Amino acid sequence: MTMTKLLIGNIAEIDRQGSRKIQIGELEVALFRLSSGEVLAIENKCPHKGGALSEGMVCGRQVHCPLHDWRIDLASGDVQAPDTGHVRTFEVEVNESNGSIYLTL
Ligand code: FES
Repeated sequence: MTMTKLLIGNIAEIDRQGSRKIQIGELEVALFRLSSGEVLAIENKCPHKGGALSEGMVCGRQVHCPLHDWRIDLASGDVQAPDTGHVRTFEVEVNESNGSIYLTL
């Protein structure tokens, strides 16, 4: 599969500790800006019953699904015990001089 790097927005559009959702064709991606400033991206769909993870609460590097509170690690995409599963993650790059955010698909 070829990798595509897409310009998806600017860091100025996401509050610190905030999130955004991005639609790319059929795929919806949730972008999170952590308190550390780091930006992480995962598919915006909980593996349990499809909850929108962009609307979940972030605690450290994990998001709590807004529907039934499964916890998902934003860096690995792994669902945390006692639940199991995995969410697709995407590589994010932020250009430090102009704030452009790129996603690798
Ligand atoms: S849909 Fe996410 S925990 Fe149920």
